[in-house]
Amino acid sequence: PPYLNDLAVAAGKLWFGSATDQPGTGEDTNILYQTILNDTHIFGQITPANAMKFVSTEPEQNVFNYTGGDIDVAIAKDHGKYLRCHNLVWQNGQLSDFVINGNWSADELSAIMKNHIDNVVGHFGSNCYSWDVVNEALNDVNGSFAPSVWYDTLGPEYFFLAFQYAQEAVAALPAGPKPKLYYNDYNIESPGTKATAAENLIKELQARNIQIDGVGLESHFIVGNTPSRANMTAQKQAFVALGLEVAITELDVRHVQVNATNSTSFAIQAQNYYDSVASCVEVDECIGITVWDFDDQYSWIPGTFPGQGLADLYNADFTRKPAYYSVGEALEGV
Ligand code: G3I
Repeated sequence: PPYLNDLAVAAGKLWFGSATDQPGTGEDTNILYQTILNDTHIFGQITPANAMKFVSTEPEQNVFNYTGGDIDVAIAKDHGKYLRCHNLVWQNGQLSDFVINGNWSADELSAIMKNHIDNVVGHFGSNCYSWDVVNEALNDVNGSFAPSVWYDTLGPEYFFLAFQYAQEAVAALPAGPKPKLYYNDYNIESPGTKATAAENLIKELQARNIQIDGVGLESHFIVGNTPSRANMTAQKQAFVALGLEVAITELDVRHVQVNATNSTSFAIQAQNYYDSVASCVEVDECIGITVWDFDDQYSWIPGTFPGQGLADLYNADFTRKPAYYSVGEALEGV
């Protein structure tokens, strides 16, 4: 087969990688899954899909649990993979009850944020290539801040505080490689209101001399409805023009009706994957591509969008889809 990570490295990227969700999802006991995930010719990087999120790492106030995240650190170390660490501050998905329900004052909530960031960044240390510091802060429609306990209590300052605390936590790590600090979001892969709003937040961080190193372009796309390669390349260049690197962080391309698929729809999906990967290949500062898990059996999509899916590079039985080969061609520049 084409070895996707080997091809990515040959194309000058740091990695071709995958999210992984263990322990507890069945991935950890599936030998085929493990064999493919561990093969660094295929995946040179992993992102924990859930194990480093707030509810996983600090389920109760100041009680930290690194069990899941440490498994990912071990996988990365054992197989020579990069690790993207995901994520520190997010408005929904897996925020601990004590944060949501505490009726905290602004001072109390910013102290909770700082304590979380100090501990989690401190624990995983230089094992992380990067941290997604703030995840999905913006509304789709107009690019304003999405409501959340963070925003509702601290206002827009929550965003800047998160990066400031992350900068301080990274600076406090022992000498050696330091994780880069990323903003990560979806629907900012091509020009539009939300992408412009993200650019403005980056400019504001820079005006305040707060560190940000990269933008994560999630890239959860729909078959036949993926932005054009030219638009994706233009938006990458817009972020790069601000002095940042970019990465494709959560790529998948879902069918909106799994019971209405055919060879044509899988060919369109393959072209959609190709366009996304090719737009990273042609921007030097796009440092890598990560799929949001690689096998349909473990995709997040059917659980969130019932009836949708078949989005990943491998079918549920671990056979490769046409998209797998088209990604290989995009990496080879074919
Ligand atoms: O761990 C529990 C398990 O004990 C329980 O039996 C089961 C029953 O529902 O739920 C399990 O937790 C689930 C968890 O994934 C672990 O698999 C949660 O319900 C489920 O909500 C959670 O979904 C995750 C989602 O983020 C949360 O918003 C997905 O796995 C994860 O892939 C997804 O990842 C996000 C990125 O972080 C940010 N960008 C979008 C992306 C896709 O939604």
